[in-house]
Amino acid sequence: MKENKLRSTDWFGKSGKDGFIYRAWMKNQGYPGDEFEGRPVIGICNTFSELTPCNGHFRELAESVKRGVWEAGGFPLEFPVMSLGETLMKPTAMLFRNLASMDVEESIRANPIDGVVLLCGCDKTTPSLVMGAASVDIPTIVVSGGPMLTGRYRGKTIGTSDIWRFSEMYRNGEMSQEELTTSEACMCRSDGHCAVMGTASTMACMVESLGLTLPENAAIPAADSRRKRIAHMSGRRIVDMVKEDLRLSQILTREAFENAIMLNAAIGGSTNFVIHLLAIAGRIGVDLSLDDFNQLCEKIPLLLNLQPSGGYFMEDFYYAGGLPVVMKEMIGLLHPNVITANGKTMAENSATAECFDPNVIGTLEEPVKNLTGLAVVRGNLCINGAVIKPSASLKPELMQHRGPAVVFEDIDDYKARLDDPDLDVDENSILVLKNVGPKGYPGMPEVGNMSLPKKLLAKGVIDMVRISDGRMSGTGFGTVVLHVSPEAAVGGVLALVQDGDIIELDVANRRIHLEVSDEELEQRRGSWKPLELGYNRGYVNLHIKHVMQAHEGADLDFLKGGSGDQVLRDSH
Ligand code: FES
Ligand code: MG
Repeated sequence: MKENKLRSTDWFGKSGKDGFIYRAWMKNQGYPGDEFEGRPVIGICNTFSELTPCNGHFRELAESVKRGVWEAGGFPLEFPVMSLGETLMKPTAMLFRNLASMDVEESIRANPIDGVVLLCGCDKTTPSLVMGAASVDIPTIVVSGGPMLTGRYRGKTIGTSDIWRFSEMYRNGEMSQEELTTSEACMCRSDGHCAVMGTASTMACMVESLGLTLPENAAIPAADSRRKRIAHMSGRRIVDMVKEDLRLSQILTREAFENAIMLNAAIGGSTNFVIHLLAIAGRIGVDLSLDDFNQLCEKIPLLLNLQPSGGYFMEDFYYAGGLPVVMKEMIGLLHPNVITANGKTMAENSATAECFDPNVIGTLEEPVKNLTGLAVVRGNLCINGAVIKPSASLKPELMQHRGPAVVFEDIDDYKARLDDPDLDVDENSILVLKNVGPKGYPGMPEVGNMSLPKKLLAKGVIDMVRISDGRMSGTGFGTVVLHVSPEAAVGGVLALVQDGDIIELDVANRRIHLEVSDEELEQRRGSWKPLELGYNRGYVNLHIKHVMQAHEGADLDFLKGGSGDQVLRDSH
């Protein structure tokens, strides 16, 4: 194997003043001088934060990575980056995904790092780190934090998707505030991220599907000792990846993206997958569009019986054999020879996988559901597409539905009027929510799985067609059309929908149509005014000016692509 010159040599290998500056201050941490003499420097990019509870155990996880790095002869150096917690950040963590990716990119490039381990957990911490690293393109491995243990409440297993059920029960008077509060700690009873196939678990599966992790990374619970073991092994492996000069761009090929799309459909992954994968592809220079998702997902049924599409949890998925079992089952459809982080192909990595629980992981012959995990619909309402997750519908007959729109102009309007007893709505209505897109909210929050009107809940209605330019939590469910592009705030046709307009959703034909004539729409456009968003400074202003639409991954336009790992000038 040919040994490459280490990037870090341009810092630590220098003589005179520059070498002094690069090494001397590092020595205040007690490192012996020979650490700086040609060991691969491994950056451990840590999203630990007490404000990101899903990543709250990452200090320990980083220590496991370090053990592996030391053992393999590397020099581990941990560094913090902006951590995005899904539950606390307002108006939505998504507003800051691209900002965090800039932090990651510049931190890696500016420092003497030869290879990097990305510690990812809560939803946005995975895409932001992978996006940032992709724009630098040095050897990179991902270690996910792992899901929480399955929640237990009053003898029942629960997970994040139950929030949506519990809150409807609460609104409907079937659950008290006291019961709701008790269930909080029952659901979140261990380290880790959401225990269902929400966005965090989807992202963990995405990075394993793309080949960016060691096998089995996605499903090992945070509290299971094997999570530390895989962190340790990843620490060992990244040192070899540096020696092999195995860079992200060699792993993140068009074929790897296609594998990730097909596997995501099979596991019933979050709709947020679409936006994040498009953004990552944009960074690494792989041409990917929404149409690719439709083509690749079309014939793939749901193989995984996890909430929100099914009934089980990530812990069960791990005990059933984890993602390698799904890969093995689908290997005939996938590109089996893509190279992954351990230097082996996906086929090699999954060859010995075995399913230990057919109730959790189905087969192509006997899938969990025949509905696919993802479909892209188009029509005059969204010329650039919109996304729906058929496997998470509670009333599959709504996949084909025609009904009158009940329009909410923005989130405040929706909150103010949803439970109004006089709201003109029934189960055939289609709830339309405007101005929750990338620019409009801003940041494209997870409000697309709108709660149903109280009076319909009381009648026993469990699902309705809902349409918006927002996203929904990966833990959400229902017949929900999301990511309408172009969004209302930039004058998309969504902005022109009025109460009573008839909309037809036809998922089988990947179509959504607003039954209003072009002439009428043009007339309405004449009186449409852009929103006054009221952000005149700072990052949010930058975001609004530069964010791309959902079908382009909602990245900032100037962040597309990469700048490599070269830095030409020294610091003093
Ligand atoms: Fe962090 Fe769900 S809130 S993963
Ligand atoms: Mg989320």
